[in-house]
Amino acid sequence: MTPDLTPLAIDRDLMFLDRTIGRLSYGCWRFPGTSDESVSEKIDAALSIGANLIDTAAIYGFGGAGFGEAETMLGRFISDRSSVRDEMVLVTKGGILPPLPYDSSADHLTASCEASLKRLQTDRVDVFLVHRPDNLTAHEEVAGALSALVKSGKARAVGVSNYTVEQTRALQSFLDVPLAVTQPEISAWACDALSNGMLDHAQATGSLPMAWSPLAAGALATGVKPSGGGEQRFANLISVLDRVAEENGTTRDCVALAWLLAHPAGIVPIIGTQSPDRIRSSAGAFDVTLNRQDWYAVYEASLGQKMP
Ligand SMILES: NC(=O)c1ccc[n+]([C@@H]2O[C@H](COP(=O)([O-])OP(=O)(O)OC[C@H]3O[C@@H](n4cnc5c(N)ncnc54)[C@H](OP(=O)(O)O)[C@@H]3O)[C@@H](O)[C@H]2O)c1
Repeated sequence: MTPDLTPLAIDRDLMFLDRTIGRLSYGCWRFPGTSDESVSEKIDAALSIGANLIDTAAIYGFGGAGFGEAETMLGRFISDRSSVRDEMVLVTKGGILPPLPYDSSADHLTASCEASLKRLQTDRVDVFLVHRPDNLTAHEEVAGALSALVKSGKARAVGVSNYTVEQTRALQSFLDVPLAVTQPEISAWACDALSNGMLDHAQATGSLPMAWSPLAAGALATGVKPSGGGEQRFANLISVLDRVAEENGTTRDCVALAWLLAHPAGIVPIIGTQSPDRIRSSAGAFDVTLNRQDWYAVYEASLGQKMP
């Protein structure tokens, strides 16, 4: 039989919470230290490519401008441009509280969401995520807090970030609303979510998998390997991404994003660049034609081994 080398389908948008969202989303982690003017340029650039799912968190800014600063900056934008608020599907997170480091007690999650709403200058977020699993809070208590946030209208939906599949299942077992989002790290370099069951669980439950650091925090764009080992493996991955980019007449970062977009779980990569031009050019990912052979070549290079 002839191998099927037709391009893998990549949808540009999908339905989420009764809204159409772009398959690319935009993240505000790196806002602190940039200007308010640039925030508005970046959000406008994101919306211009359909990236209307906007991701932030209470902790963003800690260690620099201050805890909550990314939300405060986004809140000033929302206040100045209130008509744009309804175009955005807003995701925030709580539960990281330095120096503890984590507190997902019901009291803290509730207070964290309320403080986020104040900073964001809005009366509700679309999704509130538990940022990281907290070993010291029972799933039942976390579930109670999340459920109350939905019932009060402060969050339209809830989800988790950096949870394992088992942790997600345990939390869900105490919840009367579905976990609408899971947000692990996923990139062509950090691709554990492809094999640890997270993307299978997302497909089985219909939760939306948002991929944080989809360019491995920029490493896949710059070609500079993140710390840790794997020099040869990283070099091979860059070389495969470059080969596909050249064949497509595009950039390596667009291929790395397309590789995530082509996965059938409906991964939504959260792009994190502070450059409006780079935000806009990320949309080139939708024009990359990846076939099965290319996709697996990237995966094999990342794993450092051939598929069995
Ligand atoms: N849930 C979690 O625990 C968690 C953790 C981390 C992040 N996140 C979310 O994920 C979002 C994205 O994370 P991320 O910022 O690490 O994403 P990323 O897109 O993997 O990396 C962004 C970094 O790559 C650089 N970059 C991008 N394109 C480039 C290019 N062509 N050439 C050179 N540098 C390039 C950017 O620099 P420039 O700005 O100079 O372009 C920026 O420093 C965050 O904003 C946050 O919302 C969530």
